[in-house]
Amino acid sequence: MRIVVLVSGSGSNLQAIIDAVTAGPLPVEIAAVGSDVPGCKGLQRAEGAGITTFAVPLQKCASPEERSEWNRQLCAAVQEHAPDLLVTSGFMRILSEEFLTSLGVPIINTHPALLPSFPGAHGVRDALRHGVKVTGCTVHQVDAGVDTGPIIAQAAVEITEDDTEDSLHERIKVQERRLLLETLERLAAGRLQLS
Ligand code: GRF
Repeated sequence: MRIVVLVSGSGSNLQAIIDAVTAGPLPVEIAAVGSDVPGCKGLQRAEGAGITTFAVPLQKCASPEERSEWNRQLCAAVQEHAPDLLVTSGFMRILSEEFLTSLGVPIINTHPALLPSFPGAHGVRDALRHGVKVTGCTVHQVDAGVDTGPIIAQAAVEITEDDTEDSLHERIKVQERRLLLETLERLAAGRLQLS
């Protein structure tokens, strides 16, 4: 199974995929890694592993037309690598409906909260501030909404009294990596089908 991975930041989830592919058990080829943030740590990790990278930056305060054009360019950049699946992990942009339709292959995303609770860019902070005692992570299929697509897998993480956003996010990320790799394994083995 060929995948393209999109990242915006540190790419620790991407690193888990790279490690699993390198170690052998995961029958996945990372065709390329792309980003909206040129030079981000995730792209550096990919380059370090000898994986092709690309960046399609979106300028601040982009107009709707510029956003559409960015979606078109990003979609073309992904399609160049002919993936069977697109993985967004720590990719902090919303993809347009046109992107999803034109791409023509499923997209999965990881989110650091138990959806449908706490969607959006600050899932860890929002759960902590809300005072919930249990949060977690979700792997879901991407649709045109914000973290609204069908849920594939979830794991719970307990919040302790002394948790900070960082300490909690670190424990959530451990579970995110596990779920992401499990989901890729199930997809690659044909045990999970996405439309
Ligand atoms: C992950 O928790 C992801 O779900 C969230 O941002 C984090 C990205 O981490 N949207 P990394 O870039 O994989 O280190």
